[in-house]
Amino acid sequence: MEKSTGKTNTAVFISGRGSNLKSLINFSKNKKSPIKIKLVVSNNSKAKGLKLSKKNKIENFLINFKNKSYAESKVLKVLKNKKIELICLAGFMKILSKAFIKKFKGEILNIHPSLLPKYKGLNTHLRVIRNKEKFSGCTVHLVNSRLDSGKIILQKKIKVFKNDNVTNLSKRVLKAEHKLYPRAISKLLSFS
Ligand code: GRF
Repeated sequence: MEKSTGKTNTAVFISGRGSNLKSLINFSKNKKSPIKIKLVVSNNSKAKGLKLSKKNKIENFLINFKNKSYAESKVLKVLKNKKIELICLAGFMKILSKAFIKKFKGEILNIHPSLLPKYKGLNTHLRVIRNKEKFSGCTVHLVNSRLDSGKIILQKKIKVFKNDNVTNLSKRVLKAEHKLYPRAISKLLSFS
């Protein structure tokens, strides 16, 4: 039988690279971390992040989202089995349905590479640069049924330089994301 750690059982959902997953795995290894990552869910069998979970002996659950309601019902079952209390979306490229969000009894967090409510959706850095914004950043927020619109937990502001391109800016924002997500989780869990 597994020893109870008093930590929040967490699942991380990914679709690709998994650099935020990596930062969350490192965070979870800290003795004082409030989370234990018990599951990584992916809709993409080629997601690089899946290698990370294997390396860290975290169970993967791969599921094709072509039939979304079928996929979501399967995911909900696994989450229940694993007693997952927190979902962290980390570059998960599918929009979870209202029904899924309602049925999952824990909290769902997402990280987005902009200063929400500005620049919801995709291609944030390109739009920020085209609009000559002086600042961009990243946001960790709770997930509700509207895209990138749930309650904001934490944000980090990042300066946009005149000669920035998407590559530079996304690199700087990503670095900030890796610090922000663990901090936001700690904040959320210390108040719930
Ligand atoms: C990050 O920029 C995140 O904010 C966005 O998707 C990207 C995922 O990157 N939602 P990674 O897979 O965590 O490296």
